[in-house]
Order: sequence, then C-alpha cells, then structure tokens
Amino acid sequence: MSQPTEPRTTRPTDQRPTLSRRHALGGVAGVGLGLPLLAACGGDDSSATDPAGGSGASSGGSPSTAGSEGAEGSGGSGGSSAFASTSDVPVGSGAVFPDEGLVVTQPTEGEFLGFSITCTHQGCPVDSVSDAGISCPCHGSIFDLSSGAPTAGPATSALGSVSLTVDGDEISRA
Ligand code: FES
Repeated sequence: MSQPTEPRTTRPTDQRPTLSRRHALGGVAGVGLGLPLLAACGGDDSSATDPAGGSGASSGGSPSTAGSEGAEGSGGSGGSSAFASTSDVPVGSGAVFPDEGLVVTQPTEGEFLGFSITCTHQGCPVDSVSDAGISCPCHGSIFDLSSGAPTAGPATSALGSVSLTVDGDEISRA
C-alpha cells in the first residue's frame, strides 16, 4: 500500500551526495542571509503596522508643530523674503541687518527706508544707527536717516538706496 512510493528513497540516495551538499550549502547560506533580512523586514513591518506608536507620536506632534509654525509665521519670521519685523526698527532711528547687507531706517512712524550698509567712503560696513544718523565706524562718516546723504565725516556721497516692501509687520526687499 504505501510501498510504491519508495523508489524515491533509492534514487536520491545515489545522487544526493554531490547535489545535496551544494544545495545544502546554498540553502544554509541562503537561510543565513535570509534570516536577518526576514527578521529585519518582520521588525520593520510589525513596528510600521503598529499604529499605536506612530499615530500617537504624529498626532501628538502635529498640532504643536503646526501651532508653533503658525505663530512664528504670523510673528514675522515668514522665511522666504521677510528679513525683519517693523518692531525691529525704532522710530526716528533704524537698525543694521548685516546678513542682508542692509540698513533700515524709520525716520517717521510707518516710513521704512532701506540703504546699503557699504559706506561710500572706503567701503566699510556701517554698523549703527541712532537719531543722529547711520554711522560708519571706520572714519566717522554719518549718513542721514531719510536720504542716506552724508552729514558728517569724509564720505561725500549717499548710501545706496534699497527699495523695501512692508507687508503687515514684515519687511522684505521689494
Ligand atoms: S569707510 Fe566709512 S567713513 Fe571711511
């Protein structure tokens, strides 16, 4: 009854020594390489499919991140082009923005003017603004808040004018 199936046992026995070793080695190597991969995949899959950790973290993080981004965005760091807030520039004075290469003045409330920080005397960057004007530290030139024209020192020509755009409380280059 069950004996007719025995021929298999005799045939493979003859051929197995060479084939089975190769297959066995290949299989061992395959299993050896495959197990870590499977284990890694299994680990990733199980953790990825585990909604508890992922959704919990993202739902916890999203609102606070979105909330802080929204607050920062409306606060003036908008990013793309705005480099300053109107509150950074005092009325009757101004502020230097070295990274932008700009001085922004506000001679009268709500009037924002932009100038190059490069002194027209010998090219030093101006570094401070007061009600007296925009000052160059190198040789003492002072430039007018409204026109950028020199009012003191060796400089004889005005600072370069830079057009600005004021949108709400954000200041950017025009
Ligand atoms: S470089 Fe500014 S005063 Fe000389």
